Amino acid sequence: SEDEVVNITYVLRDGTERKIRGKVGDNVMFLAHRYDIEMEGACEASLACSTCHVYVDPAFQNKLPEPLEEEDDMLDMAPALKDNSRLGCQIVLTKELDGITVTLPTMTRNFYVDGHVPKPH
Ligand code: FES
Repeated sequence: SEDEVVNITYVLRDGTERKIRGKVGDNVMFLAHRYDIEMEGACEASLACSTCHVYVDPAFQNKLPEPLEEEDDMLDMAPALKDNSRLGCQIVLTKELDGITVTLPTMTRNFYVDGHVPKPH
C-alpha cells in the first residue's frame, strides 16, 4: 500500500540520481541491486566487507539506529570515510526515512579483498 512506500534517492558514482520507490523493511543494498544500481555488497550483508559503503544525507543521519560495533569496525576500513558514512546493507527503510538520499562514494575498492592491506586479525 501507499503507506508502505519509502522514497529513496541513490546518487550514483557519476553524480546522477536514481529515485526509487522502496518500501518499509527494504534493505538499502538489496534494494539497489534489484534496480541495477551499482552498489557492491561483497559479503551479502554479513558485515564482513565495506563495499556497500554509502554517505547518508545528514538530515537523516539521526533517524538511523546507531551502527553496531561490527559496522563501525568495517567502516574503519572503507576508503574515503566521512562522518555520515554507513554501510548500505545495514540500513533498513522505515517510514521516517521517506525522502532519504544515499550517495555512493567514488572510491569503492575493497582493499581488504583486493589484498592491498594485510588481512586484520
Ligand atoms: Fe558487506 Fe554490507 S555487504 S558489509
